[in-house]
Formats: sequence, C-alpha cells, structure tokens
Amino acid sequence: MNWLPLHMSIGVTVIAMILLRLFWRVFTKVPVRPLPRPVRFAGALVHACLYVTILAVLITGWLGYRPMPFMPPARLFGSLPVPLAPTMGGLSARAFAVLHAKLVWLLLGLVGVHVLAALAHAALLRDGVMRGMSLGRPDVAPRE
Ligand code: HEM
Ligand code: HEM
Repeated sequence: MNWLPLHMSIGVTVIAMILLRLFWRVFTKVPVRPLPRPVRFAGALVHACLYVTILAVLITGWLGYRPMPFMPPARLFGSLPVPLAPTMGGLSARAFAVLHAKLVWLLLGLVGVHVLAALAHAALLRDGVMRGMSLGRPDVAPRE
C-alpha cells in the first residue's frame, strides 16, 4: 500500500489546524494562573518547544517530499497535487526526510514530558491546570 498520500493529506490537515490554533493563541487572552514562577516558565518553555517542533516536523515533511521517478506524483485528498518544495541550503529531499523522521522522535519525547507534567499538575500539585483542557470557561482571570 502507498501510505504517503494519506500521510501527507493528514499532515496538511494538521498544518491547517496548527495555523488556526496559533492565530487563536496570538489574538485571544491567555488565562493567568497563580503558579510559582519556575513552574510557569517551565510550562511556557515546553509549550513553545512543542509548537516549534510541530511546525518543524510539518515543514521538513514538505521539504522531504520528491515524486518518485516514473511514478504519478502524490495527490492530497485524492486530487490536489503537492506543490514541490524548493531546495534549501544545498540539502537533498532525502536529508530532509531523515530530519523529518528524527524530529518526530523529538516531538514524541516532548509530548511525553508534557503529558507527565499535566498528570503532575492534576495529581500532585492539584492547581487546576488540567481543568484548562475541559470545555467551558476557565476558572482563572484572563490577562488584560
Ligand atoms: C504531524 C505530522 C507528521 C508526522 C507525525 C509525520 C511522521 C512521519 C514518519 C514517522 C515518517 C517515517 C519516517 C521513516 O522513514 O522512518 C514520515 C515520513 C515522511 N513524511 Fe511525514 N509526518 C507528518 C507530516 C508530514 C507532511 C505534512 C508531509 C508532506 C507534506 C510529510 C512527508 C513525509 C515524507 C516525504 C516522508 C518520507 C517518506 C520516505 O521515506 O520516502 N509528512 N513522516
Ligand atoms: C493526554 C494528553 C494530553 C494532556 C492531558 C494535555 C494537557 C494539557 C493541558 C492541561 C494544557 C493547558 C496548560 C495551561 O493551561 O497552561 C495543555 C496545553 C498544551 N498542549 Fe497538551 N495535553 C495532552 C496532549 C498534547 C499533545 C499530544 C500535544 C501536541 C502534539 C499537546 C500540545 C499542547 C500545547 C502546544 C499546549 C499549549 C497551549 C497554549 O498555551 O497555547 N498536548 N495540554
């Protein structure tokens, strides 16, 4: 089975979702939590790393794509042709595909740290951070 077109269609959907999320994040007020400074700093750092790594995975995926010789090019959602990425910094598409795969491991590591931290907030610190994941209004004041 050729998994790449489905893989890229899901990846492009993730790009759309992450851009929408970043837009939302920039233009809405973020809840201020009464947490100790180092905890706030660690959270902000891991979240920033998550955003950067997700974007790096998506971009290197695109830079890593080259149609196979003598094969029809991959189509997104069964119809849209994938725009061919420019060559960057003298690196081959193969090199970007390898980087893409390595970055996925980094992303999985960060997600692991993030989920453990979320569990620590819920079970050890009991500071209400986990409630930020539930639907409805957060019980913290928005930043002005
Ligand atoms: C969150 C999104 C994505 C994840 C988690 C992801 C994950 C992966 C993984 C695990 C591999 C296999 C690497 C290996 O060979 O061991 C891979 C390969 C690849 N991905 Fe992605 N990917 C994502 C998005 C994308 C996007 C958006 C594109 C392109 C538009 C893309 C294009 C590719 C290409 C070209 C390969 C290499 C296939 C080959 O080895 O020839 N990926 N990806
Ligand atoms: C069991 C799975 C997960 C749990 C319980 C969880 C929990 C949370 C919680 C409670 C927050 C809010 C933190 C706050 O309000 O300060 C958060 C934010 C966040 N999560 Fe997760 N998460 C999970 C999975 C993931 C995954 C898989 C990703 C990415 C691949 C992710 C990326 C993020 C990012 C980027 C933020 C920061 C949002 C922002 O402030 O803009 N999370 N998560």
